[in-house]
Amino acid sequence: MKSTSASHSGKAHGKIILIGEHAVVYGEPAIAIPFKAASVEVIIKKTDRPVTITSNYYAGALSKAPKELNYLSVLLQKISSDFKKTIDHIDINITSHIPPERGMGSSAAVSMAFVQALLSYFDISLEKEQLLYYVDLSEKIIHGNPSGIDARITSSEEPLFYKKGYVFESLPLNISGYLVVADTGETGQTSRAVADVAKALKNNYEIAEPLIRHIGELTLKAKSAIFNNDLYTLGRTLSKAHESLKQLTVSNNSLDQLVKTALEAGALGAKLTGGGRGGCMIALATSRKKAESIEHKLLKQGAAKTWIHRLKGEDINE
Ligand code: MEV
Repeated sequence: MKSTSASHSGKAHGKIILIGEHAVVYGEPAIAIPFKAASVEVIIKKTDRPVTITSNYYAGALSKAPKELNYLSVLLQKISSDFKKTIDHIDINITSHIPPERGMGSSAAVSMAFVQALLSYFDISLEKEQLLYYVDLSEKIIHGNPSGIDARITSSEEPLFYKKGYVFESLPLNISGYLVVADTGETGQTSRAVADVAKALKNNYEIAEPLIRHIGELTLKAKSAIFNNDLYTLGRTLSKAHESLKQLTVSNNSLDQLVKTALEAGALGAKLTGGGRGGCMIALATSRKKAESIEHKLLKQGAAKTWIHRLKGEDINE
């Protein structure tokens, strides 16, 4: 967070959920990775106009912003009222390189960067947990029933093993390999997907509940595969998680097609990442060369954008 007296800045980054999405809402563990290739910066400056916002998505008065940006107004009101500060004339400038609504944690990252910038503007310093309280609040507005994982990973330097209600653990991914991340180009529907899983648990408990528990077991298996540097088991575990997510109805045709393409191209495993119903998928590859060849096939299959993310361990020689 670098700020001058005239401008106050907050920064955060995107995330990739390696495994455990959706189940994490119901107390199962999940593993998330900070995705620094996609970042966001919010700069707050004093102006002589009422509160304005400048972003790729919308520029103008905050009071007239589309409802998707409501969470910023709520955060602004809440922080001003909690700390008895007057909201005067400010411009909120958002520069985001995180594709919105793609399961990459864009909203949590914008909230985190905004809260940091606003606290700096008000000259308030808070502990991380208090900061997260505000980000969780905005995630509740956006997603209804968030687990809290997105809020925590967008400001974390390390991958996290997270279970709702527990202290999150750093989980260094000392494992060989590469993740290929591909964007379907379709906006995901996290809040609807989360709501539909809740509905499935209510109406079809005997089917949905074992799927949630199974994803939890797969996450524990992925964690031990990471400890054992066993990329092959990790790959198979990711693919199994995709099958369970599919049965929970949070995948869609584009995601399934990209998963299939990645597996046919030699990925060790592949799955959707984040909320699903659009957004992004990930594929695990043994080497950069393999990752590039998978990436090429995903782009040919219609992926809108791709990234290659290196995990931490030594490369495998094939
Ligand atoms: C969204 O990035 C991840 C979900 O598990 C929702 C949540 O954990 O809040 C789908």
